[in-house]
Amino acid sequence: MSAVFLNGEFLAPDQAKVSVLDRGFLLGDGVYEVIPVYRGSCFQLEGHLLRLQASLDGVRMTNPYSMTQWTAIINDLISRNEGEDLAVYLQVTRGVAPRDHAFPEGVTPTVFIMANPIQPIPESYKKQGIKVITVPDIRWQNCDIKAITLLPNSLLKQQAQDAGAQEALLIRDGYLTEGSSSNAYAVLNGKIYTAPKDEKVLPGITRELVIELAKKAGIPVIEHAVSLEQLRQAEEVWVSSSTREVLPVTELDGELVGNGQPGAIWQTIDALYQQRKRGE
Ligand code: PDD
Repeated sequence: MSAVFLNGEFLAPDQAKVSVLDRGFLLGDGVYEVIPVYRGSCFQLEGHLLRLQASLDGVRMTNPYSMTQWTAIINDLISRNEGEDLAVYLQVTRGVAPRDHAFPEGVTPTVFIMANPIQPIPESYKKQGIKVITVPDIRWQNCDIKAITLLPNSLLKQQAQDAGAQEALLIRDGYLTEGSSSNAYAVLNGKIYTAPKDEKVLPGITRELVIELAKKAGIPVIEHAVSLEQLRQAEEVWVSSSTREVLPVTELDGELVGNGQPGAIWQTIDALYQQRKRGE
């Protein structure tokens, strides 16, 4: 990483410093986005910036920049960093103020952006699929806000890793919400099910694209959460995120999903996704 952006300046990463009184540090009071960059161009930038606005609205913070300003800053940062395929991470916190739960008045938000090489997806994840476990969704009631307070997500992901799995699928009131850092899908009778956009899930930008691609391909999509029992009977299970694309799940709580191979509908969606990623 050759440069990061902090509060209006491009700096070397070790020169970028934030106050210990920053509310992001003390209270987790902030929101974030992760935007993939392919061949030097942001993928689905508008969707990410619109969701950022929704997250800021959700935590009652004013957006420090316009869409045009965000776009210019992000593109400038990309050009200052090596590599063509990057993950841009941006976060906005409420700013620096004496510690108090209630909002301070008149503070300037802290804006931090970095661009890291996107971690390549291991080939085996697409060839053989990934393993997941199901766990209770212990998160809060506003999972549609992309908040930096990721302790529950982090604990759940670690629980999956400790079990030798790559993702934890979260169950709330008997129904699948999403993954610890991904949206989730189940294919039943040839139809794709994914939880609806409400406060129980993050409205994933990749999820939106998956739905668009599936509809164009004539595959029915039902925005309805599946129960844990339905999930166990699904022909295919997938997860999606900006950094991991769409991944087939072939093992769920130690049992094979379908025939234990990435499914045919996933193959179709992945092929369409790869085309879109290449700008076709
Ligand atoms: N996370 N749900 C949760 C809880 C997530 O954290 C993410 C992504 C998604 C997928 O959203 P999108 O398709 O817009 O990336 C769903 C990012 C990648 C992260 O925290 O690193």
